[in-house]
Formats: sequence, structure tokens, C-alpha cells
Amino acid sequence: MRAISPISRDSLYRALAEVVGEEDITADPIQLYSYSFDASAHHFVPDVVVRPESTEEVSRIVKLANELEVPVVPRGAATSLAGQATPILGGIVLDMVKMSRIKEVNLEDRYVVVEPGVVYDDLNAVLEPKGFVFPPAPASSRVCTLGGAVATNASGARAVKYGAVRDFVLGLEVVLPSGEIARFGGKCIKDSSGYQVARLFVGSEGTLGVITEITLRIVPKPKYAVTCAAAFASLEDAGKAVAAIMASGITPAALDLMDRYTLAAVRKAVAPELPEADALLIMEADGEPEIAKREIEEMARIAREHGAISLECSDDPKERERLWKARKSVLPVLSRYSETTVSVPLIDDLSVPPSKVPATIRAIEEASAKYGVDIGTYGHIGDGNLHCKVLIDVEDPDQWNRAFMAAYEIYRAVVKLGGLLSGEHGVGISKAPFALLQYGKPEIEAMRALKEALDPVGIMNPGKFPERIPKHFVFRLRYPYRGEGWV
Ligand code: LAC
Ligand code: ZN
Repeated sequence: MRAISPISRDSLYRALAEVVGEEDITADPIQLYSYSFDASAHHFVPDVVVRPESTEEVSRIVKLANELEVPVVPRGAATSLAGQATPILGGIVLDMVKMSRIKEVNLEDRYVVVEPGVVYDDLNAVLEPKGFVFPPAPASSRVCTLGGAVATNASGARAVKYGAVRDFVLGLEVVLPSGEIARFGGKCIKDSSGYQVARLFVGSEGTLGVITEITLRIVPKPKYAVTCAAAFASLEDAGKAVAAIMASGITPAALDLMDRYTLAAVRKAVAPELPEADALLIMEADGEPEIAKREIEEMARIAREHGAISLECSDDPKERERLWKARKSVLPVLSRYSETTVSVPLIDDLSVPPSKVPATIRAIEEASAKYGVDIGTYGHIGDGNLHCKVLIDVEDPDQWNRAFMAAYEIYRAVVKLGGLLSGEHGVGISKAPFALLQYGKPEIEAMRALKEALDPVGIMNPGKFPERIPKHFVFRLRYPYRGEGWV
């Protein structure tokens, strides 16, 4: 796949305008610039942005792109943290915002059919009054779209009990890189009718085709929920409390962590009342009131036994929201930790078996001390999914180098502990340099063979994992430093 020339850009624009209409296409430089970002450290400017309204329009666009050998990058709300929605080689960005209909809500058969541009919380706003819910709950649920959530296999705090998006996808309609429309899976709870190709598209990050319709399983909304925040004087004690809770047989509805860096940033920005502790655990139980109450009491007892220094619990919806607000604001406010540093998503969302969380925390602390960079750690500790953000002065090449080395060492430790690069944000660009820590040749070759079989011309989100990503793309960052000299 290669970048397109100005002449072909003009004819591409005209051909695309015929498909979507003049009001749903733009090549205005300011618009294109704003479409060059997602929530990652990367940015690449597209040649043209279109907003298709139907599967047929997507099909015509992709067919055209395949004939002209032009990259296509689908985009939901661009909350992707690893660069998935940024077009490395330019080309067409497909903004799926107009495909945002909830087509069917079926309570008897417990599924919904939605278009990819539906905002996550908008689906639950329809389901909850009917007593149902789609539960994976990514932290960006107010803005992220279901298409993006499927494409990254997103999840959030409630995955520890309810699972990630992949556990809910019953069927998908996709536009293949050839432009053909295909349907995999269906509306049934059970499906053993051949390859689970819909699952293959879950986590494919826009590299295999365009998701145009999603059938999702839904579950009854829990009747009752109770939340506790437990502060600890040591992060390791919090990690041990988590291991004990999971070993006790309770499945918490959420078990999230904030460390001292994230607590300090959130205290400064939005919640001055947060305790000055080394760690805060947010624990939740839900379901039948009696059972949930018993479970939260047991979790609180385990937290105390492992050194919790304070405990605040509530089943009042407003109070629970307040307890969660601090945790949910970590990502947007972490750059406020100090005047000179910015939070950079390099390590991001590692995933380890929950019993390895204390060892992972030790590895993070060691790398942070060895390379002299602050690392804020938070996330879904109950299912072993930790978010790490390196806090650096992004104008200082030396700090970048130390941050990358710390990231490399942390990923190496994670893989040694039986963990994985990404638990919920995907590989994209930013984790591709570390992929060979997790995967060997047979795995990479198998993934590339799948990609090439479905997309022989290579139009779908080219230059992203599992393709080889040239070094200069990894370091085309939206920050001043370009990463010269690093591996
Ligand atoms: C969170 C996002 C970053 O959990 O996954 O806050
Ligand atoms: Zn998360």
C-alpha cells in the first residue's frame, strides 16, 4: 500500500462524493487535521473523510478503494488509545457517525441489533428502563461507539464479572475488503455452524473489513449494587487483598485500583477529598440485594485483614457515582499530576492472571525506579488488567528514551508472568513494537496469513498490527519528540 498522489486524490474525491453526497465528504485541511488524532500518542492525516449512511454505501466505498488501492480506516468516536483510528498511510477515513440506529431490541431472545455508530451509553439508555443491560462498560462509554468497542474487544470495570465485548457478540454484518457484504454468526445464543468468523472481527482493529451491523447478547440488569472504596498504605497490600478476594470465591461486579500518582492527580483536578494513600481499591457487588450485601461485607473484611486504612461504602446511586467519578476521571486528568509532565499511553493496558498482579506491580515499581520515570498505575485489578501511564516531559528526548525502556521492561516482565500486551485497548501502533515479546514467528505468520487471505490488496487500516510497522510510523507522535535512536 502506498500514499496517493494529488491527482488521484482529486478523482478519488469525486468518485466518493458520488457515493455519499457532497455534504458527507470532506478534504478541508482543518477537518482532515482534526481527523488525524485519536486518544493515542499518534497522529496521521487522512486524504479524505466520508460519512456513509448505509451498508450499501460502505460497500461501494470499499470496492472503489480496493480497485484504486487506497487505504480505508473505519472510525467510531476515535477514543482508541493505541492509534487504531489514525490513518498511517492516509487514504479514506470512514466516519461511522451516521450509521447509528438501534435496529431491534428483542427481550424474549435477549439480543439487540445495532449499527456500529451507536454510542455505548445510548444503547444502555434504551435497555435499562426495560430491565436489561449490555454490561462490558468501557470507561469511555459516554462517547465511544459500539463498532469501535467490537473492533478492539473493549471492556471496563464490569468485565471481571460480566466479560468483555467478545463474550456478547452473536453476529456481525461486515463489508469485506473486496466490497462484498457478508454476515457471520446470527441471533442465536448457540452457534457451532463452522468457523467463528464474527469472533475474528472482534479485536481486528479495522484491519479485516468494516463492521456495518452488530447483534449483541444482552442480560438482565442487576437489581441492586453496592460500592466500597478501601484505601491502603501500600500498593502491594492492595494487590494481596485482591488476590484474597478472588480466591474467596466471590466474583466482584467490579474491583478497580488507583495508585498514589493517579490519586494525587485526581485530588488536584476534581476530588480533593480523596485519601492520601498509596492505593485505593474500588469494590462492587451486585445482583440480589441479600447476596450482594453479603459479598461486599466479605470483601470489606478481606480488605481490612490486608491492611485497609479506611473504608467508605454506599448503595445510594448518587454516592456510588461519586465513588466512581474519581476512578473514571483518571485518564483525562493524569496529565495534571505535575506542571512539567504529560501522561503518555505507552504501557497502557497490560493483562496478567490476577494472582500475578502483586509481582506485576513490583515490576512496574522497579522499572519506574531504574529509569527514573514516574508511572501512574490504575485499572481493573480484579481481572488482572492494569493501566499504566508514563508521566514525562514530552519535549525531553532523554525522558522519552527512559520511558520506552521502562515500557519494554514492564512488557517483558508481564509476558514472563504469563500475561498479554493488551487487555482492552488493543495493539494498534503503540504496542506493535512489543508484540514480539508475546508472539513468536508461527503466531505472527498465522495472523498475517489471515489478513492477506481476506485483504490481499492490503487496503484495510494498513501498516497496523499484525502487519510489520516501520519504525518511523511508530515514532510519528503528536508530541515534539520523534524517538530517533530507539529500537
Ligand atoms: C479506563 C480506560 C483507560 O479504564 O480503559 O479508565
Ligand atoms: Zn480500562
